[in-house]
Amino acid sequence: MTKPEILQLGPYPAWDQEPLDAAFTVHRLFETDDRAAMLADVGDRIRAIATRGELGASRALIEACPNLELISVYGVGYDAVDLAACRERGIQVTNTPDVLTGDVADLGVAMMLAQSRGIIGAETWARSGKWAAEGLYPLKRRVFGRRAGVLGLGRIGFEVARRLAGFDMQISYSDIAPKSYAPDWTFVEDAVTLARDVDFLFVTLAASAATRHIVGRDVIEALGPEGMLINISRASNIDEEALIAALADGRLGSAALDVFEGEPNFDPRFRDLPNVLLQPHHASGTIETRKAMGQLLRDNLTAHFAGSPLLTPVV
Ligand code: 8YV
Repeated sequence: MTKPEILQLGPYPAWDQEPLDAAFTVHRLFETDDRAAMLADVGDRIRAIATRGELGASRALIEACPNLELISVYGVGYDAVDLAACRERGIQVTNTPDVLTGDVADLGVAMMLAQSRGIIGAETWARSGKWAAEGLYPLKRRVFGRRAGVLGLGRIGFEVARRLAGFDMQISYSDIAPKSYAPDWTFVEDAVTLARDVDFLFVTLAASAATRHIVGRDVIEALGPEGMLINISRASNIDEEALIAALADGRLGSAALDVFEGEPNFDPRFRDLPNVLLQPHHASGTIETRKAMGQLLRDNLTAHFAGSPLLTPVV
């Protein structure tokens, strides 16, 4: 039986690549120097695209594959897939929700703790000999019992808040409407008010055109010189220009970021800011979660070609 031909846009670990190669004829777009030539050659044979959250699939790429039926995303976020182009052509899209929620929430909380307690600087202090030479590390701010805000109480936001409750934090959240599953947490309608009333603001929104720069200058200034912004969603949810300016002149206390515009080539000004913790978009980056994401990516492809219902369709 001939194997369906699929286009792979980015690398996966060997434990995913091997079963993918066994089940499909895989064309690896990321391995060629001449993408246009590869697409001209195989484009009309491609029935599915296997991509990653941050890579998505552009309209131009979708148009280069006239017989495309499915885009399977390795990631919960599908904002980089041109959904309008998919809808026009009846192309289905799947993602990998749920399996990564706990790890993404864990990293968000870890970033808050690391940044608030200065864990990275303190490690350098000990390792470099400054502890012995200069004495005690400068005092930092506590986390437990303080006020946390969660912007977007979906699956990931909920798990962040649940963890924060374990630190006896006072939890508020903002979303399009109050959530029945969050009776113990305070609903705040607008993001500026939420930011004004908390010490730590987590951004856990699914990104879309509607949420672009939802954390703008007004929200950042409301969070203020003592506040911390933690982003484990997508860079587009934050106005990076406003963020960099506020971090530079102290209108915002600090930030902890796992996602950046143009990543991995993020704005170099971030490197010079001492009050930002930088992470290389690895909130879902554990062996356990990545294995589950790869399995779900493949299960959606397999279901599609078997004519079975998709496990996690988004379009
Ligand atoms: C992944 C992500 O890092 O789930 C998402 O939306 O951005 C991350 O989990 C990414 O998709 C893996 O390439």
